[in-house]
Amino acid sequence: MKHIIIITGAGKGIGKAVALDFAKASKAYHDFEPHLILVSRTLDDLETVAAECRSCGATADLFQADISDIAQINQLVSATLERYGTIDCLVNNAGVGRFKPFTELTVEDYEYTMATNLKGTFFITQKVFPVMEQKRSGHIFFITSIAAETAFKSSSLYSMSKFGQKGFLESIRLYAKSCNVRITNVMPGAVSTPMWGEVAEEMKGVMMMPEDISGPLVNAYLLPQRTSVEELVIRPVGGDINE
Ligand SMILES: NC(=O)c1ccc[n+]([C@@H]2O[C@H](COP(=O)([O-])OP(=O)(O)OC[C@H]3O[C@@H](n4cnc5c(N)ncnc54)[C@H](OP(=O)(O)O)[C@@H]3O)[C@@H](O)[C@H]2O)c1
Repeated sequence: MKHIIIITGAGKGIGKAVALDFAKASKAYHDFEPHLILVSRTLDDLETVAAECRSCGATADLFQADISDIAQINQLVSATLERYGTIDCLVNNAGVGRFKPFTELTVEDYEYTMATNLKGTFFITQKVFPVMEQKRSGHIFFITSIAAETAFKSSSLYSMSKFGQKGFLESIRLYAKSCNVRITNVMPGAVSTPMWGEVAEEMKGVMMMPEDISGPLVNAYLLPQRTSVEELVIRPVGGDINE
């Protein structure tokens, strides 16, 4: 069966690993035919990821979009519905972080963080949810963070946005339950991705890898529709690496 899956922030890091693991699952499950809609602002990244997904047996479209722009979200969702008529899964993964002492954060840092993590996540979900509500099936993942419930000194803005995402998803789960739609909050600790920039080798050694997050996410999707994994809390075995 064909599954139309939108993944935001699919060009790098965790989003890329999610796309690849969905694509690989098409080999393991004969009736699972993922069609991946890969979204980010950088076309080159998406082309690379799409080629890798296709080589694993999935079909994939690229959609260059900035989810902080509501017009671009509307275009993405409308184009997907015009072409495929439905959406089975939305992975709200695109996210940004500016990590500095709270007194050094600027208005630009604030607006940049909130525009993607809160505004973008809210409005893409608002646009996709009614499709799932109407057909009484679907699955929406939110890649929040451990920082959605644990504070770290340098993560004031990031935590504000991630606590906000958690509040939002818990609220919409109350609607989703009544129409058979699954909502999963994925809360990773530190994962080695481009989001961290350059990190020392010693620090990389205590971080997780993107596939440590994407594997459990894809498994949660492939469970029978009657079962909802509501939260995945995934930490490095040694615990959190920041304070
Ligand atoms: N890495 C960690 O330790 C960690 C831990 C917990 C949670 N998370 C969360 O996991 C998610 C993915 O993080 P990551 O570490 O994989 O980050 P990453 O390596 O920086 O990748 C982020 C992806 O999102 C895209 N993106 C960012 N803003 C976007 C926007 N406005 N519109 C469309 N695409 C956008 C980026 O591509 P472009 O820049 O090309 O658009 C990129 O493809 C984020 O929500 C993050 O908060 C990460």
